[in-house]
Amino acid sequence: MKKILITGGAGFIGSHVVRRFVNLYPDYSIHNLDKLTYAGNLENLKDIESCPNYRFIKGDITDATFINTLFKTENYYGVIHLAAESHVDRSILNPLEFVYTNVIGTVNLLEAAKVQFLNNPGSFFRFYHVSTDEVYGALGDTGMFTENTAYDPHSPYSASKASSDHFVRAYQDTFKLPTVISNCSNNYGPNHFPEKLIPLCIHNISHLKPLPIYGKGENVRDWLYVEDHARAIDLIFHKAQNASTYNIGGHNEWKNIDVIRMLCRIMDVKLQRAEGTSAQLITFVKDRAGHDQRYAIDATKLQNDLGWLPSVTFEEGLHKTVDWYLENQKWLQAVTSGAYQNYYSEQYTKR
Ligand code: NAD
Ligand code: DAU
Repeated sequence: MKKILITGGAGFIGSHVVRRFVNLYPDYSIHNLDKLTYAGNLENLKDIESCPNYRFIKGDITDATFINTLFKTENYYGVIHLAAESHVDRSILNPLEFVYTNVIGTVNLLEAAKVQFLNNPGSFFRFYHVSTDEVYGALGDTGMFTENTAYDPHSPYSASKASSDHFVRAYQDTFKLPTVISNCSNNYGPNHFPEKLIPLCIHNISHLKPLPIYGKGENVRDWLYVEDHARAIDLIFHKAQNASTYNIGGHNEWKNIDVIRMLCRIMDVKLQRAEGTSAQLITFVKDRAGHDQRYAIDATKLQNDLGWLPSVTFEEGLHKTVDWYLENQKWLQAVTSGAYQNYYSEQYTKR
């Protein structure tokens, strides 16, 4: 069986990628390597955990010895690398953690992959780095990020992802390690940790808590349903040329305040509350430091080369997402206890 290493598979996007690969490709043995930080949760994969082509490996990508041994033992056919610290606000509080995981962790994986690749001439190998549109910086009112937009990261998170993208390209150019990179816009959907805007507001609306909107709520994000991202990752992993880059996005730009107003309307109906109840919770708070104004992805290359288009409309995706959170209150309760509470009390005291 061809062994595929998926890192960060217990997190939000990783869990959808792991499920897709386990269900669609019985010929692959899917190894999910995850440290299980606050953002990783094996509950996200309960439905596939006993599949014969699935294996969970608890481990830390910053541990070079562990990573080298793993590659020597398993001899991977391919790697899909998603493990990362992913939250911009946390990167402002603790940038170093992002350097360790996102930069050093990625270079550890590249080093181990390089050794395996050079020791097995003629064998297929592919290293796929899952990255973000935030590496391109911020847009004004017009324009879109293309694959040729110059990197201009602003937050410690985006700087760490830009750095890891550069290392991936450096390994391709220097050692001929076969790599691909994709840069995706904001995802939403089931299993999203409730520190990010949409799941945080779903959680807070359920509990009639304030909905913190940074600044005036006029920043724009380009939202994509997570399963559409997983489908794009599948296509790119199997069909892209080595050394290529693809932007992934839904052509779905929204101001934050409009996203939250729509969410409020949807949840008032689903929770059978009077119209306008949830919107009253909207609270404008101090802006995020260095807050990028607007992201918008031009995904034409992915459409033209590989025929990918998003399949879920925003309204449909938001309904599916809200339904999932309402049906999975236990999940929400479990992940919002303990460390989560400390993180939020620290954030709010700072404002
Ligand atoms: P997430 O925070 O939900 O999950 C990250 C996963 O990585 C968790 O399971 C965590 O336990 C694991 N992890 C963290 N540090 C680790 C370490 N040192 N060793 C092993 N595992 C570790 O993140 P996500 O939102 O699912 O994002 C996944 C990837 O996609 C990231 O690389 C992110 O930069 C990228 N991305 C995310 C989005 C988005 O909107 N969420 C958009 C574009 C790209
Ligand atoms: O663009 C892709 C990126 O999208 C990914 O690379 C990141 O991993 C992912 O976290 C996401 O980054 P954002 O910073 O855009 O996502 P977040 O959900 O944190 O914020 C979305 C917008 O909402 C942003 O403009 C900030 C704002 N916001 C966020 C939070 C958490 C608020 O107004 N209030 C909040 O409480």
